[in-house]
Amino acid sequence: MLTKTRQNPILVEDMAYILNHLTEAERAKFQDSTILITGSGGFLGYYFMHFFATYADELGIRKIISLENFLTGTKDWMDDLARDNDKISLHEFNVITDDVSQIPGADEANLIIHGASIASPTFYRIYPLETIDANVTGLRRLLDFYVKKSIDGFLFFSSSEIYGDPFPEFIPTSEDYRGNVSAMGPRACYDEAKRFGETLCYTFNTQFGMPVSIARPFNNYGPGMNVNDKRLPADFAKAVTEGRDIVIHSDGKPTRTFCYIADAITGYLKVLLYGKLEAFNIGMDRPECSVKEFAEYFVEKAQEVFDYQGKFVYQPSTDKDYMTDNPNRRCPNLTKARTMLGYEPEVLVDEGIARYLKFLKYQLA
Ligand SMILES: NC(=O)c1ccc[n+]([C@@H]2O[C@H](COP(=O)([O-])OP(=O)(O)OC[C@H]3O[C@@H](n4cnc5c(N)ncnc54)[C@H](O)[C@@H]3O)[C@@H](O)[C@H]2O)c1
Repeated sequence: MLTKTRQNPILVEDMAYILNHLTEAERAKFQDSTILITGSGGFLGYYFMHFFATYADELGIRKIISLENFLTGTKDWMDDLARDNDKISLHEFNVITDDVSQIPGADEANLIIHGASIASPTFYRIYPLETIDANVTGLRRLLDFYVKKSIDGFLFFSSSEIYGDPFPEFIPTSEDYRGNVSAMGPRACYDEAKRFGETLCYTFNTQFGMPVSIARPFNNYGPGMNVNDKRLPADFAKAVTEGRDIVIHSDGKPTRTFCYIADAITGYLKVLLYGKLEAFNIGMDRPECSVKEFAEYFVEKAQEVFDYQGKFVYQPSTDKDYMTDNPNRRCPNLTKARTMLGYEPEVLVDEGIARYLKFLKYQLA
């Protein structure tokens, strides 16, 4: 029997949305594939795993191998998913120290997704070395293992954070912008590890011809983002579900574009299936809104979905590094992803927030 999550109407619609936004040629590339995914218990992993589980038969996927050490990821939903689907194998696995050759079927994988990292600033400041190691050592170990194997795609999750805090003339930011990043500071463990990860991908491609492609995600949000994750959308959603006021820890002025998870996953699959060395911005380019406006959208949609009575308030964070090196603006130029991948995100931020809240309401009922 399908779990409650898999019957959640928002998730069901999103899975179909992702499938419908892949071309026939892209879908065909899953035929007879074995997919290995690291960091599969996290936010993006939640949608990847549900998507592969939902369409494994239809797409002709042979096997889905999930590697996760549960440092910040969660487990229950994964067990439920694997119980329903004998194509999924789950392994408690640390990409930094464990040996992928010991994982049954790993040597047959032809599509690799390396998402293991710590993505939430609050948590990567607590685990800076683990963050560096997952993106550098963990990536290197996977590249070493697959370098002599016949694979069709290897997706590395970089980040828009590799651009640091771009000067205004570089916003929207395109892939050829080289970044304005601090090598030292509380965010450097993440930003610089992602930058070096990209260098590793580039080197393995130029030295050995590996089909490594790179996604640079820009602020995703939506179902699957654990409300305890401490990223902005999670914090706001948690406040709504608990009936508390939303707290903004900055002056509310930094701006972002927010990309709904179903659009983002569509983009990442396109990058994976592209199968050649290239880095792509994956995100949403409109509207660029301030943190204050984002909070206003949350209040408005929460009133509709949860009959929310709260408001938003300003309160400095007790974490002294919360705002250090925080970029002022973040907005992608998506021309490259549009023209080379046919990537076209559609879900605007107010609709995406409503979907996230409706998803949570169904789960909590
Ligand atoms: N979500 C976004 O908006 C966003 C933005 C930029 C970059 N990214 C990148 O995309 C990837 C996935 O992001 P996410 O939002 O799902 O992050 P997440 O933190 O929710 O999930 C990452 C998962 O990796 C696992 N992990 C960490 N270290 C590991 C290790 N050593 N071995 C095995 N598993 C390990 C964690 O337990 C977690 O479940 C990450 O590499 C992240 O840096 C995401």
